[in-house]
Amino acid sequence: MQKILKSQGTWIGKWTFVLAATGSAVGLGNIWGFPYKAGTEGGAAFVLIYLLCIVVIGVPIMISEILIGRRSGNSPINAMKRSAIDSGNSSMWQLVGWTGIFAGVLILSFYSVIAGICINYIFISAFPNELISSSEQFGAVISSPSNLLFWHTVFMLLTMLIVSAGVKDGIGRMVKILMPMLGFLLIFMVIYAMINGAFVEALAFLFAPDFSNIGTDTFLSAMGQAFFSLSLGMGSIMAYGAYMPKEQEIVSTSFSVGSLDTLIAILAGLAIFPIIFAFNLEPGSGPGLVFVSLLSAFNQMEFGQLIGPLFFILLSIAALSSSISILEPGVAYLAEEGFLSRKKSAVFISLLCWIIGIGTALGFNIFADNNGDNPFLSNMELISVQILQPFGGMMIAIFVGWFMDEALIKNEITNKYPIFYKLWRFFIKFIAPLSVAFIFISQLI
Ligand code: TRP
Repeated sequence: MQKILKSQGTWIGKWTFVLAATGSAVGLGNIWGFPYKAGTEGGAAFVLIYLLCIVVIGVPIMISEILIGRRSGNSPINAMKRSAIDSGNSSMWQLVGWTGIFAGVLILSFYSVIAGICINYIFISAFPNELISSSEQFGAVISSPSNLLFWHTVFMLLTMLIVSAGVKDGIGRMVKILMPMLGFLLIFMVIYAMINGAFVEALAFLFAPDFSNIGTDTFLSAMGQAFFSLSLGMGSIMAYGAYMPKEQEIVSTSFSVGSLDTLIAILAGLAIFPIIFAFNLEPGSGPGLVFVSLLSAFNQMEFGQLIGPLFFILLSIAALSSSISILEPGVAYLAEEGFLSRKKSAVFISLLCWIIGIGTALGFNIFADNNGDNPFLSNMELISVQILQPFGGMMIAIFVGWFMDEALIKNEITNKYPIFYKLWRFFIKFIAPLSVAFIFISQLI
């Protein structure tokens, strides 16, 4: 076991894992997904359920994924298989890894299209068209299939190149400087919104819950968003766990990553909604929300033509440090089994994602439904984010809570504060799997 770990090489330095995991977690999910979902799902009630899901389901599952990944040192499919066999259980538990890879392909397919739009916005915000509003600008961007496909291709190529070179070399450095920069820029945007936007209205929208108009699908959507934002349930974090040094503490690391990720999402909300309300834009307008609102802010502010592109550059890089973690589990598996070289594996899976992504790109225009919404994107999100990710997470919780040999677990979790261990055990055995199951079942009735 130790040999495999060595041959893949652990990351040097205590912070590299935290940086990479944060790089994976922080991305479009926080800045594009969270505000747009909060907007369409009615605001604060959604936010509250989302926060609850992070604490009650997300962090406990993150701890589990990291420990499975680290103790085996393999890609997720083999990590699950090995942990199951070592605990005297069926090797069929590897199916959880397979479901994850399948979910990952679907997720990356649409992730790349949206990230492509971010790259496109680097140029749009640098050279704004003053004759049209920012909503019309977004409309123009998504109505052109060739434009969307071009940027989708660019982003997919970048992801493929980094993953084929091996994620552990460049990513630590990339994340260390650029993530804090993105954080500072977001804080700047929040301050800008505080001064120039309808800040109080935004606070009320985000934090004063009105439970009268939420339904069971609000729960499903908030839970999916929590899984998506923390990169859980499909193997990203498990794959990175394989590179985590033995002496690093899993529980507190998971808390740090979870808190940072949540903080960035909340900041994005606080930057975007004051502008939405000040400009009388529609909070429930969907996937275009972040692009429309921030572009109007950049167009108004001094030096907006510099700050805007800088923001979209950083956002594109944040998306890239996430997308590589979506591609990594599948590529690591194919390369580890020796089916294909690392390069060929990366090309093969990227191509698959690229082809499926065409659906999302055309769903914005040629195949848009009568309301102008993207049915392909919503269905992709439903299947992968709202169903497969929580399902994978639930299976991981059930495995760690009920099937995995506890001696193996205790080997990974240094038990400095026994109370945390006991709490986590309780959450992973009962609360996390039952919450996911409950939310699934409430959808069916
Ligand atoms: N969490 C990332 C974001 O918020 C996206 C991401 C990375 C992801 N790895 C994942 C989503 C695995 C689902 C599954 O943008």
